[in-house]
Amino acid sequence: MEIMSPSAAAGPSYDHTGKLNLNHVYNRPDPRDYFSTLSKLGYCVPEVAKPFFKRLLEAKREANGEAAAKVVDVGCSYGINAALIKHDMSLDDLYRLYAQEAPDDQAVMLERDRALFADCADDQLSIVGLDIAQNAVAYAVDAGILDAGVSADLENREPSAADLRVVENADLIISTGCVGYVTSSSLEPLVEAGRDPWMANFVLRMFDYEPVEEMMARHGYVTERLDGALFPQRRFVSEAEHAQVLDNLRERGLSPVEAEQDGWYLAELHVSRPAGQAGTPLETMFAR
Ligand SMILES: C[S@@+](CC[C@H](N)C(=O)[O-])C[C@H]1O[C@@H](n2cnc3c(N)ncnc32)[C@H](O)[C@@H]1O
Repeated sequence: MEIMSPSAAAGPSYDHTGKLNLNHVYNRPDPRDYFSTLSKLGYCVPEVAKPFFKRLLEAKREANGEAAAKVVDVGCSYGINAALIKHDMSLDDLYRLYAQEAPDDQAVMLERDRALFADCADDQLSIVGLDIAQNAVAYAVDAGILDAGVSADLENREPSAADLRVVENADLIISTGCVGYVTSSSLEPLVEAGRDPWMANFVLRMFDYEPVEEMMARHGYVTERLDGALFPQRRFVSEAEHAQVLDNLRERGLSPVEAEQDGWYLAELHVSRPAGQAGTPLETMFAR
């Protein structure tokens, strides 16, 4: 069965990787279309990523010997990872807030959200976001979900001085559902502007992560993939998407696993740390 958003009534369109084109919900003035569309697709990777990001943040704070920390979320959209990590919400909370219980009036919703996000679970943590979608970033900052944000396409231009002021001094760079849209071109300036930041990206198996690993190695980083761990991202939307993903995997020399055969996109976790801080194996760190 194909799940279509109302605005895709003419039929789903797909990007060059065969993925459903969701551009029509990425940059709306508020998050309602994003969450109502993504919930129907079973999108869940921010929720499965949350404990891993929290553990990495804890370990990086220990390595820094400081409680204050800054995270840059790449492809932050409406501040989803910030809502989960800094405000301790769940993805289901967000689906409820912006799908089932969303006020009709956008101004009412923004007021509700400002009150909701005024208190946060971790006030020593600053989370800033980068996304090409200007309206999404603006909403997340206005609502207090993100501490600050930059709307820019660093695939196609260098960050400006103003962009760098927002993203500089990061301790941890994270992303869910974004590598593939972004490459090392966007990630490199964030690493260069950071405080020896660690980087953790959840990346679909069909994407080649080697160029990012190579870029990080040039900066003195070790990149590891969490061994044996495959994380659900969302269901395929159609037979066409399913078939294309299985082809993409085979082209990369990977055999589709059962969950992929059964209709799920699977992601892997890649973590980069400076060589001098990469002593603890990922498996040991996450076992705690
Ligand atoms: C699948 S959404 C993931 C959003 C969020 N991280 C999550 O997991 O819910 C992909 C995001 O990547 C963003 N994106 C696409 N191209 C980008 C680019 N060149 N630079 C930054 N963000 C980009 C989109 O606007 C969108 O918000």
